[in-house]
Amino acid sequence: MTTLNIGIILGSTRKGRVSPQVGEWVKGIADARGDANYEIVDIADFKLPLLGESDDYGPAAAWATKLATLDGFVFIAQEYNHSITGALKNALDSARDEWNNKAAGIVSYGSAGGARAAEHLRGILGELQVADVRVHPLLSLFTDFENGTVFKPADLHKANVNAMLDQVLAWSGALKTLRQ
Ligand SMILES: Cc1cc2nc3c(=O)[nH]c(=O)nc-3n(C[C@H](O)[C@H](O)[C@H](O)COP(=O)(O)O)c2cc1C
Repeated sequence: MTTLNIGIILGSTRKGRVSPQVGEWVKGIADARGDANYEIVDIADFKLPLLGESDDYGPAAAWATKLATLDGFVFIAQEYNHSITGALKNALDSARDEWNNKAAGIVSYGSAGGARAAEHLRGILGELQVADVRVHPLLSLFTDFENGTVFKPADLHKANVNAMLDQVLAWSGALKTLRQ
């Protein structure tokens, strides 16, 4: 079986965001497993315009091309006004077929672990035919970050990340057979 490519998607793009810290932590745990190719996929790098507002289709094409290389995803999802970020929603809307028949896990954070954002994300993923797995690490802005800015995750989350990745890899491998 070929090695799966899993994108760790940073859902926030604002200046001062903490998502790169969370994404790198997930990637460190994932890389230590040695069971797939894991890469950080930063929405901010793609400079996606709001859907339909630009005549330049280059950024959306580059985004779709990147997604097409991936077999599965881990969304680093932060809670903004009880939902996901506008940047992540726009990135989800900015491709279609490239999402289909793939699997995803969610690592969320917020004052309530980002649970409300993650549940919204699950509904959107259903429409995009992305199969989201059950295990869902939730990080608290109060206990897993210092001053809400410096990421210091509690040890207990590592087992959850690994359990989530087990499920993402199993489903990513299974769903890949539908796309061949
Ligand atoms: C516009 C905005 C709305 C927010 N709304 C919520 C919220 O509804 N619930 C919550 O738990 N945190 C909320 N937060 C706090 C964010 O979860 C926190 O700032 C987090 O660090 C954002 O992720 P980021 O640093 O990667 O951008 C909000 C932050 C912003 C900027």
